[in-house]
Amino acid sequence: MRSPVGVGISIVLTLVISTLAAVIWSREAIPQGGSDLETSLAAWDRVVAVLKHPRCSNCHQPNEPLQGDSAQRHSPRVVRGRDNLGSPGMRCGSCHSEQGNDEASRVPGAADWKMPPRSMAWARLPSGQVCRSLKDPAKNGRRSLKGIIKHMQDDSLVHWSWDPGGMRESVPLPHHVFVEFVEEWVRSGAHCPS
Ligand code: HEC
Ligand code: HEC
Repeated sequence: MRSPVGVGISIVLTLVISTLAAVIWSREAIPQGGSDLETSLAAWDRVVAVLKHPRCSNCHQPNEPLQGDSAQRHSPRVVRGRDNLGSPGMRCGSCHSEQGNDEASRVPGAADWKMPPRSMAWARLPSGQVCRSLKDPAKNGRRSLKGIIKHMQDDSLVHWSWDPGGMRESVPLPHHVFVEFVEEWVRSGAHCPS
């Protein structure tokens, strides 16, 4: 015959062991990487929606910038040129002011107005390729992921997209929310869709 105290102890032990087992099992059942992957991909979806907005994508083109909310060919026609600042006769800076938008002539402007290098022409790529291109130091201007966050926070051309002047639509998502999604994407592993 077991004493009442012995029975009590064995009940408590059984409870403790089964609780521990449940905790360990549930940890295994929800792999940490899995939930991170979902967070990361969801954040990336929000990031890439901004990258594909005409305020960003009109510049991130292979050869020529595009214009307006419907991404028309730039008129007059201009090309990237050797230094990303246009051809000798059609320099970006001869029309686009470093000082900002010119409301009278409707020419947009911001510091450092130019085409990004060809390796950053991700505007027409599918989401997964844009993602991998952004992470690739050989293509992204030798930036770390921290450097990408910093570019999104500080760059004059990124900021212009929230104050584009004229009748242009600014990027709909507030700038600080956009930066938060970029940070969340990086924090959760900077995963890319396939
Ligand atoms: C001869 C003047 C001129 C030159 C040179 C010029 N642009 Fe423009 N650009 C304009 C004008 C004017 C607009 C605005 C058109 C409008 O919205 O009606 C414009 C608009 C743009 C836009 C569209 C912004 C948006 O999202 O709607 C981009 C991008 C752009 N230019 C990039 C460039 C780049 C890069 C260069 C140099 C390679 C360049 N431009 C050279 C006159 C010029
Ligand atoms: C007027 C043209 C222009 C516009 C508009 C513009 N960019 Fe860029 N972008 C550039 C140039 C030029 C560089 C290269 C800067 C450097 O490497 O120093 C660049 C670089 C970048 C990079 C660096 C890494 C890489 O692989 O591309 C990112 C990210 C980026 N831009 C995002 C954006 C986003 C987001 C927007 C809109 C919110 C935007 N850009 C709007 C011209 C532009």
